[in-house]
Amino acid sequence: MFTVSNPTGADTVLSRMLTELSKVVIGYEEEATVMFATLLAGGHVLLEGVPGVGKTTLAKAFARTLSLSFSRIQFTPDLLPSDVVGTVVYNPKVSDFEVKLGPIFANIVLADEINRAPPKTQAGLLEAMQEGQVTIGGKSFKLPRPFMVIATQDPRELSGTYPLPEAQLDRFMTRIYLTYPSFDEEVQVSMNTNLGRVELVRQVVSVEEVVKLIDQVDGVKLTRPVANYIVNVVRATREYKGVRLGASTRAIQMLSRLARAWAMLHGRGYVTPEDVIKVAPYVLAHRVFSTSVSPEKVIEDVIKGVETPEASLIRR
Ligand SMILES: Nc1ncnc2c1ncn2[C@@H]1O[C@H](COP(=O)(O)OP(=O)(O)OP(=O)(O)O)[C@@H](O)[C@H]1O
Ligand SMILES: [Mg+2]
Repeated sequence: MFTVSNPTGADTVLSRMLTELSKVVIGYEEEATVMFATLLAGGHVLLEGVPGVGKTTLAKAFARTLSLSFSRIQFTPDLLPSDVVGTVVYNPKVSDFEVKLGPIFANIVLADEINRAPPKTQAGLLEAMQEGQVTIGGKSFKLPRPFMVIATQDPRELSGTYPLPEAQLDRFMTRIYLTYPSFDEEVQVSMNTNLGRVELVRQVVSVEEVVKLIDQVDGVKLTRPVANYIVNVVRATREYKGVRLGASTRAIQMLSRLARAWAMLHGRGYVTPEDVIKVAPYVLAHRVFSTSVSPEKVIEDVIKGVETPEASLIRR
């Protein structure tokens, strides 16, 4: 394993991306950065928020800045797994069957309103996410690289939906919740006629650059004291009073990967406890279940309660 002491220009790639994005999306800089870090860390995003706060716009514009192919799948009650992954169809012209790849074959797949489709279709998507390939008519097809699913849902909406089970939620590396923009930001939405016009977004980062960054994530150093810190934080979510289910071992792996990508995007070749603190809510909030206390409060308290390693220990 090689180590990256000075990750090549990841921070400048990030700022190029954010600058371009700001032409059409107002606010959500941190959220877009988490999205980018999730992509680099090989994860998938659960994007939540009430209707009309820019979820689709953000996802589309994000994919465009990075020159990535994009596909949107509207999840509905009658959507079949084959509508997502693809199917075998008969072609009368050649009198034979041929494979028709589904809309999942794109770098960024927006699975809109994932909780509207029945569990079988959700499971088809999640299986593909995990395995990086799909089977159609007995043959395996590799999904493109990079590949990231951004699944949206409105968590307030319950009637007529199939909420993702806990085991499925666990497969998403991050949950990003879009809140309403600030007053000033909404004034800009009112005044700036370019906002939302995704076609104005230029491709400012190449696919090759993205792939190169992905290949560098594992080389970002994460020392034993920081690893101990991550494990202590995750374990504390399980022991918190009133929590029925805390974060899993998979969460430890995902938090570590995301912290590496986050450190790299901020121009560092090693992970600090501050990186972990910054990304922890995005990785952990959708994995903590309690009827008496909010996941956000659990994570806040856990971060306050767990001792951070000494700065002198983290670069070794
Ligand atoms: N933060 C924002 N920056 C720029 N435009 C925004 C923002 N929030 C909302 N808009 C505008 O509001 C409209 C709706 O945005 P968009 O379709 O992305 O929302 P959504 O969250 O995907 O909604 P839905 O849940 O209904 O699909 C778009 O025209 C978009 O330009
Ligand atoms: Mg939308």
